[in-house]
Amino acid sequence: MKAIVVYESHWGNTAAVARAIAEGIGADARALSTAEAIGAALAGVELIVAGSPLLGFSLPTESMLKGMATNAAKDPTPPDLSHPSMRAWLETLPAGSGRAAAFETRIWWSPGSAAKAILKRLEALGYRPVGKGERFIVEGKYGPLRTGELDRARTWGAELAQEMAGER
Ligand SMILES: Cc1cc2nc3c(=O)[nH]c(=O)nc-3n(C[C@H](O)[C@H](O)[C@H](O)COP(=O)(O)O)c2cc1C
Repeated sequence: MKAIVVYESHWGNTAAVARAIAEGIGADARALSTAEAIGAALAGVELIVAGSPLLGFSLPTESMLKGMATNAAKDPTPPDLSHPSMRAWLETLPAGSGRAAAFETRIWWSPGSAAKAILKRLEALGYRPVGKGERFIVEGKYGPLRTGELDRARTWGAELAQEMAGER
């Protein structure tokens, strides 16, 4: 099954989870940033898994990213702002009929959901959801991921692949 795990990630947590999900799905799955998941990378893809951090209780907005660029010097490490937001990527994603799943990285107690917003947009484009959205937890504002979350991401990826295989 050809699958891509697309991520927005500014401090690396979501990217690490995306790579673990891709490992769990199997050899034909690749983790790609929103800058990489365009054009030929989308051809023949049967499953799109898309994830972003939860920032300011929501899927990051363009104004948040602008603010992050302005305030970058105050962060412990500067944010990676080299790729488009998940929001912008979803705007350019062509309609499709494949399957889709969504995830977010976040602190455990926060209200809001990025995964729900991602899945809603993917469904509006015609992709059919597989599995429920998933959340992966960081220990502080910038990470690191809580111990065990990468294993959980691998397991979730494997479950998505199994669910797809079971429907064939
Ligand atoms: C400016 C900022 C705002 C954040 N807002 C939230 C939030 O509202 N809710 C939450 O659960 N986590 C929040 N977080 C934590 C991030 O979601 C978490 O660190 C995430 O894993 C970052 O992903 P990344 O490393 O892939 O960029 C925030 C972090 C930052 C730096």
